[in-house]
Amino acid sequence: MSLQGKTALVTGGSRGIGRAAAERLAADGARVGVHYATNEAAAKDTVEAIAAAGGEAFAVGAEFGTEGDVDALYDGLVAGLNGAGLDILVNNAAVIDYADSIDGITPEAFDRLIAVNVKAPLFVTQRVLPLMPDGGRIVNVSSGVTWFAQPEIGYGMTKGALNVFTRSLARTLGPRQITVNTVSPGITETDMNGWLQDPNSAALVAGMVALGRHGQSADLADVIAFFASPDARWVTGQVLEANGGLWLGPNER
Ligand SMILES: NC(=O)c1ccc[n+]([C@@H]2O[C@H](COP(=O)([O-])OP(=O)(O)OC[C@H]3O[C@@H](n4cnc5c(N)ncnc54)[C@H](OP(=O)(O)O)[C@@H]3O)[C@@H](O)[C@H]2O)c1
Repeated sequence: MSLQGKTALVTGGSRGIGRAAAERLAADGARVGVHYATNEAAAKDTVEAIAAAGGEAFAVGAEFGTEGDVDALYDGLVAGLNGAGLDILVNNAAVIDYADSIDGITPEAFDRLIAVNVKAPLFVTQRVLPLMPDGGRIVNVSSGVTWFAQPEIGYGMTKGALNVFTRSLARTLGPRQITVNTVSPGITETDMNGWLQDPNSAALVAGMVALGRHGQSADLADVIAFFASPDARWVTGQVLEANGGLWLGPNER
């Protein structure tokens, strides 16, 4: 219970990696704001699961990339915090567009990727920083596509921007003892990766990973929880690849 008495906000906490992170931070003792875009039922389900496990959580709705998104998130957060500050911010929510290869990407599609994956974390962070005490924690969720090439060029570019965001912010917030780090997942089984349900695809991925399988949301949640914990007090401005050893080299000789 290293986060007893602390508060946290997980953007995109309603599903996937964000949900697992919200559950883990709550299990560590934090009161967690579970943010969602439109899937209120999923957020409610997450909040109920946390409560059933003996933790505390509240839902916050705000669809990034729409007018007033940051204001909506801030208002819901402040209502849920009920006078408390915000100790931990996890910028996790993101969208991918599988049509955004160089052949298919449009200015509109790119604007949406930027709005949700880059602009929202930037301005959510700016907005909530006054609520964060010295010694706070910011954890950004990026992606391994920043170092391996995939066709979805727009999505990859947004995640590269997030890595730069982490380093700059870590430097700026250092004097306040606020750490800023990035967790960079590999291939993880969530709604974003429906194609992993195909056993052939899963086997292909397993063959690229030293630990021999694709990731589960809890694998990432535990790493996010480390950066949010007191144990990570001396680590800032870093990107940690959490991917089971993706593409370390051929698994078979
Ligand atoms: N899965 C992977 O293999 C993988 C690999 C590398 C990096 N990542 C990164 O890990 C993070 C989590 O991914 P995931 O796979 O867990 O995603 P996911 O299962 O698709 O869940 C996405 C979450 O983001 C929220 N969201 C979607 N669109 C939004 C919008 N416009 N405004 C605000 N919130 C929005 C969703 O809310 P609703 O429930 O309301 O829709 C949901 O909570 C992302 O940053 C992703 O880029 C994932």
